Amino acid sequence: MRGQVTLDASPPVHRGMMELERGAFQKSIPVLAAKVPQAQTGVVLKSEIMKRSLMNLPKVRTVVNDPSNSSDDRLVLLRVSEEADLPEPAQQFLKERSFSLVPHTLKLDYDYWTADEILQAVLPEELCDGSPTGFAMTGHIAHMNLNAEYLPYKSLIGQVILDKNKRITTVVNKLDNIDTQFRFFKMELIAGEPNYIVEHHESDCRFTFDFTQVYWNSRLHTEHDRLVQLFQPKDIVADVFAGVGPFALPAAKRGCGVLANDLNPNSAKYLAKNVEDNRVKNLVRVSCEDGRDFIFHVARQLYDNPFPPYTGPKPSRAQEKEERKRRQAQTQTNDTTQPPSSGDREKPSEPPRRMVSHYVMNLPDSAIQFLDAFRGILSFLSSERNLCGSGEIVLPMIHCHCFTRELERDKAEADIRRRVEEKLGHAISEDVSFHLVRSVAPNKEMYCVSFRLPADVAFAV
Ligand SMILES: C[S@@+](CC[C@H](N)C(=O)[O-])C[C@H]1O[C@@H](n2cnc3c(N)ncnc32)[C@H](O)[C@@H]1O
Repeated sequence: MRGQVTLDASPPVHRGMMELERGAFQKSIPVLAAKVPQAQTGVVLKSEIMKRSLMNLPKVRTVVNDPSNSSDDRLVLLRVSEEADLPEPAQQFLKERSFSLVPHTLKLDYDYWTADEILQAVLPEELCDGSPTGFAMTGHIAHMNLNAEYLPYKSLIGQVILDKNKRITTVVNKLDNIDTQFRFFKMELIAGEPNYIVEHHESDCRFTFDFTQVYWNSRLHTEHDRLVQLFQPKDIVADVFAGVGPFALPAAKRGCGVLANDLNPNSAKYLAKNVEDNRVKNLVRVSCEDGRDFIFHVARQLYDNPFPPYTGPKPSRAQEKEERKRRQAQTQTNDTTQPPSSGDREKPSEPPRRMVSHYVMNLPDSAIQFLDAFRGILSFLSSERNLCGSGEIVLPMIHCHCFTRELERDKAEADIRRRVEEKLGHAISEDVSFHLVRSVAPNKEMYCVSFRLPADVAFAV
């Protein structure tokens, strides 16, 4: 129908291409253009009559210089190649203003099309239904999860992803097997540099890690944030399966004292580096041991070697510099009459932080299996408990991640509660909540169950 003409801007089809040939993607599209004095281009662009005839291809400018360069005229590109396809009112509009119609050629090349469009033009037709262009990004790395039928084209797919995403310099395909103990993905390089050391920013923290050696999942960002928001700055957090620190570091930035543990030596190594890089060394203690041992002794260790009291928000670099200058000036003038700055002031009423407030357990496959390790973790305090009454001791919250195959909320909660109570050897009743973190597969959901550790478990002998 006249006036409804659409230009075919799809890329040339090259089915069976195995090696990417960028030069094969060239297309010339003949169109018509109205030759308009520069000062009057707005009249055409704003006209209701012309609106449906103007060039509307994405990333193509509607107004271009006249390549014949004869005057200061501009070419207003139209979305038709034949005058007969231009609606009558539009023809009339141009005629009345003496704007002539001239032919123009649009030249499109490889850079014009999206990754999806290029791949649809090269992959066998039977693979064009589902698109393989989905990927997750961690720092400069794009990680794909290609189905078997796309594997013969993996290099080409990787190259196109690389070309079309300027921030990506490495493209990997996840292999089926995941490291069963430390949960990191096995992967193969399909395009770009073999550089797996990632620098990633999340929650105002900088994380560096080797993506081939440690666990990282950017999809957990919301869950990291959610738990960290539950922590008060004065709290102590024990992260049993800390990875490279996505709970530990933001918690420390809030002011929490953090005991961060991971059995993978590479995770512990990068965790320690991230602690240093984010300037929270005085607030995070890193360890590398089995979660069960960690749970068993960390409460006692903290009691014997507490964190200092929380003294307010961490000063900025500028404030620290200012403070150093002030101290220097004080030493030089030997002036002891200056009042101490807020950093110097100890709050005598605040005791050191001796008790863990939260345990974080993000190892969803098996964290529940570690819950029996909580039996008796505070038994060393039994005498004090008797002296002060149990009301004096605030028992810690446990945040335990887990999977369930139950998809209905009630059944999922019942299933998780049953498994938790079985392992703990006790009912959970105080401050219990279930949070659906995400669906990891069509029949598998990840939850975080939070509850206060029952006193009978904590003080069990
Ligand atoms: C699912 S990852 C979670 C990491 C991090 N908390 C996060 O949210 O990204 C689980 C972590 O537990 C560590 N891990 C596995 N088994 C462990 C064990 N028995 N004791 C301590 N850490 C363990 C793995 O190395 C891995 O870093």
